[in-house]
Amino acid sequence: MRIFITGGTGLIGRQLCKELLAEGHELTVLSRNPTSVPLKCGAEVKPLASLGEWHAALSFDAVINLAGEPIVDKRWSAQRKQVLRDSRVALTEELVRRIAAAERKPSVLLSGSAVGYYGNCGDLMLDETAPAGAGFAAELCRAWENAARGAEKFGVRVCLLRTGLILSHEGGMLERMVPPFKMGFGARLGNGKQWMSWVHIEDYAAMVLRLLRDGQAHGPYNMTAPNPATNAEFTATLAAALHRPAPFVAPAALLKLGMGESASLLLEGQRVLPGKMAAAHYRFAFPHLADALRDVIR
Ligand SMILES: NC(=O)c1ccc[n+]([C@@H]2O[C@H](COP(=O)([O-])OP(=O)(O)OC[C@H]3O[C@@H](n4cnc5c(N)ncnc54)[C@H](OP(=O)(O)O)[C@@H]3O)[C@@H](O)[C@H]2O)c1
Repeated sequence: MRIFITGGTGLIGRQLCKELLAEGHELTVLSRNPTSVPLKCGAEVKPLASLGEWHAALSFDAVINLAGEPIVDKRWSAQRKQVLRDSRVALTEELVRRIAAAERKPSVLLSGSAVGYYGNCGDLMLDETAPAGAGFAAELCRAWENAARGAEKFGVRVCLLRTGLILSHEGGMLERMVPPFKMGFGARLGNGKQWMSWVHIEDYAAMVLRLLRDGQAHGPYNMTAPNPATNAEFTATLAAALHRPAPFVAPAALLKLGMGESASLLLEGQRVLPGKMAAAHYRFAFPHLADALRDVIR
């Protein structure tokens, strides 16, 4: 297949490129830094510097849309919120306009979203039928999904990837967590009761490949492992995997003071289950957190 990927240079995108190239697909990756594409994604991957370069005669069989400015790195000022929206929602709207204008349209669009779609839900178990929640992250995900659904009216099959916390040894959340844990400064966040719906990056990529191939797959998919953990469990399991104690607590008030509204990403959570993947009999390589963590920090 000829596949166009936005966000292909990112943590998830690089893993997908590796696996898609191994299957013999022909890849084009959107990047603001096109010269980095062959280095990050593979020598044979073609770069596209802007969506404006996708002219009507260029044809792709599938599109994977993952682009987005990092959401945890900075405080959510009004300006930062706009950057987060533009890099996801406005970019996706532009992508759908390119799909609409294409002479030969892709058959499928797999488009990003996150488990933050559900908002802060306490201990409720959430499959794909659960409604959208409240708060900035939930609103962002809902608008991002709605923008992607715009491709449906052009006959494109759309899958929405409600992505959990990616566990990878190449970056992401663990890149920030592991160094302090290794130094013995591991800490539970707030009361530690908030749920963390995680997924090993290999399972994530395998699920994406399945959604690409399965012509019946459409709509939202919870891209998470079947055993989410509370923050307290996650902290203890990571500490055990690193053979270090994690005796500390990062007080919620301190995190809110330092991070403002974006502290909600750490202090709130959602207990998400991969309902549709389970129904499709997907067998997780890493269903349990201890095994997944041991693998990525090996
Ligand atoms: N990693 C996770 O745990 C996780 C969890 C839930 C949801 N997600 C979502 O899944 C997507 C991929 O995650 P990731 O961890 O792979 O992200 P990442 O490593 O931060 O990569 C982000 C990608 O988005 C592109 N990008 C960033 N800002 C852009 C902009 N303004 N315009 C165009 N492209 C832009 C970057 O491309 P260039 O810099 O090359 O232009 C890069 O390829 C993100 O949207 C993220 O919000 C990730």
